[in-house]
Amino acid sequence: MPIKPLKKAVLPVAGLGTRFLPATKALAKEMLPVVDRPLIQYAIDEARAAGIEQFCLITGRGKTAIVEHFDVAYELERTLAERGKDEILQELRSLSIEPGAMMTVRQQVPMGLGHAIWCARAFIGDDPFAILLPDDLMQCDPPCMAQLAEAYRETGGNVVAIEEVPRERVNRYGVLDVAEDKGRLVSVKGLVEKPPVDKAPSNLTIIGRYVLMPEVIGHLSKMERGAGGEVQLTDGMAKLIGSQPFHGLRYTGRRFDCGDKAGFLEAQIAFALGRPDMAPAVREFLKRYA
Ligand code: UTP
Repeated sequence: MPIKPLKKAVLPVAGLGTRFLPATKALAKEMLPVVDRPLIQYAIDEARAAGIEQFCLITGRGKTAIVEHFDVAYELERTLAERGKDEILQELRSLSIEPGAMMTVRQQVPMGLGHAIWCARAFIGDDPFAILLPDDLMQCDPPCMAQLAEAYRETGGNVVAIEEVPRERVNRYGVLDVAEDKGRLVSVKGLVEKPPVDKAPSNLTIIGRYVLMPEVIGHLSKMERGAGGEVQLTDGMAKLIGSQPFHGLRYTGRRFDCGDKAGFLEAQIAFALGRPDMAPAVREFLKRYA
């Protein structure tokens, strides 16, 4: 079967962000900035770099600022132009999305990631689609989603980005049951969400980057509750195995869990050190905390 091009991405942003309260009481977690741009912007830029052209944000209460961020801000742009602030003006302009290329869908009740993805069913239609969880911030070259898109063009079917974690932490993630480990690519015979440490089939875990086939929606629509009483994406994906190719990709690069306070702080340092305009000053002040 021909491999359909990957042009669509779903970005779920409807979670409550309880680990980051009180910061996330009135502010969407995805609008928290790392250095000078919000998490959602890194995710959209990463998707664009992988050739994605259409975006669906799964939003919930208090998330309108996310949509505003990608809108045209005429008054701000005019003021910047009048003041000759051309560089930042260009950057703001590069943010805007092609008219009609971004839609939002409301997940009224956060019933889990699987339910959030199911909410995008009309957007997905019959096409393959990417998922990016913006709170997993990736520092990768090439960008993580571009690595996944390339793997998808090789294998077809479903491909998820994976990483190894210490055994005692597997109970926080979706975990792979490995059919064949080929190094960069791993073929998958099963998936389990948040297994007890002693029952986990491996220590290869799924991170917040996926390429999935639209058939996953049919499985999610059964609304079966899994770990934590939520509709789990992992359970829906597991049902695809056997009828479609399913691979894990050991991506190259680093992930920062920005839904977690320590991960978020580490991301600030890592991304600032990666910026030529900031690195010298950051290196200097870090000496004071060694
Ligand atoms: P998390 O597990 O990080 O949950 O969701 P959360 O609510 O955002 O944060 P905590 O754990 O309470 O601090 C992973 C991703 O799935 C989305 C989140 O927005 C995040 O991108 N999500 C989760 C939804 O969109 N809907 C849900 O019902 C659950």
